[in-house]
Amino acid sequence: MAMALYEPGLGYYVNGLLKFGQAGDFVTAPEQGSLFSIALAGQIDQLAAALDAPYTIMEPGAGSGALARDLLNALERTPQRYLILEPSAALRQIQRETLADLPADLARRVEWLAAPPEQPFSGVIVANEVADALPVSLFEVTAQGLRERCVQVGNTRLEWALERPQPRLQRAFEQLEKDLGYGLPEGYVSEICLDLPGWLQTVSQPLAQGALLLFDYGYPRSEYYLPERAGGTLVCHYRHRAHFDPFVWPGLTDLSAFVDFSALAAGGVGCGLEVAGFTTQADFLLAMGTHEAVEREKDERERLRLAGELKRLILPGEMGEKFKLLALTRNPSCPLSGLEEANQLNRL
Ligand SMILES: C[S@@+](CC[C@H](N)C(=O)[O-])C[C@H]1O[C@@H](n2cnc3c(N)ncnc32)[C@H](O)[C@@H]1O
Repeated sequence: MAMALYEPGLGYYVNGLLKFGQAGDFVTAPEQGSLFSIALAGQIDQLAAALDAPYTIMEPGAGSGALARDLLNALERTPQRYLILEPSAALRQIQRETLADLPADLARRVEWLAAPPEQPFSGVIVANEVADALPVSLFEVTAQGLRERCVQVGNTRLEWALERPQPRLQRAFEQLEKDLGYGLPEGYVSEICLDLPGWLQTVSQPLAQGALLLFDYGYPRSEYYLPERAGGTLVCHYRHRAHFDPFVWPGLTDLSAFVDFSALAAGGVGCGLEVAGFTTQADFLLAMGTHEAVEREKDERERLRLAGELKRLILPGEMGEKFKLLALTRNPSCPLSGLEEANQLNRL
């Protein structure tokens, strides 16, 4: 999965082909329009007011750069720096083009980094749909015990090969069954993102004071590994169609898996962060008053367009329920009004 997504020159995220928006393979919340970014800007403004000035925003995995552009345009409290942590050179180029129209005073605040800064900062780290793009390890419960689904070269295409699991996967699986309180049945196939804690450690390291706001699609652990979800959540996207065969056009097809939000929260605790809030994307947007902003729009055509965008972001059958927000903080007094109304920490 790491090679299919990130192999230099060939991987999905590094090959320079269009991924985002209507002409690409999938549409993320910031690509739907600016409502998501405006709501997030409201939340960041509130946080920034409570932080020591000047503050920094860091965005790992900025995609097309749409969120960075719309946030910078919408924020009332402009950050001193907007750091983009993007491993893909091709995407960094697209981000530069997206941000080219920013007013000079905003544009000069944006910096691209290969790794998080060593100097600690006070601020907000925002990642939308990044954890779902981290490579996962697939496992299968067999009569002989746990097996790892590896990939081998077949006669005409790549194919699965069942192997004894690598020790990290074995340990993570044992912890998973312990947390669930039951054993997963024979034939059960799913995945675990072994890189999640390390990724979180890396990105949260410089945060001396402030919050990490992690948006993604996924479930708490107890809902993720339900016995009936026996085929796992690995999904491929190609031109707005979802399919489940990762060996079709590797490098041209997006691969992602649902995020285990309990694992993400536990990873946060392991980094010394406080798990401050967990809610759905819909509840976050409603708590930030996004629907009222749509109603206030005077131009009727624009209001209808915004209402359509809001529906895609909040309806349960669209992005509203499947997408969640986990807030991790390094300062207990961080105000988070977008998470207070429908905080679902008890689900994690
Ligand atoms: C599904 S896209 C989401 C893009 C954007 N955040 C959005 O919402 O439209 C995943 C992004 O994460 C980036 N990415 C993947 N692995 C990463 C890592 N380890 N650190 C930072 N970014 C990463 C990809 O290059 C890509 O920009």
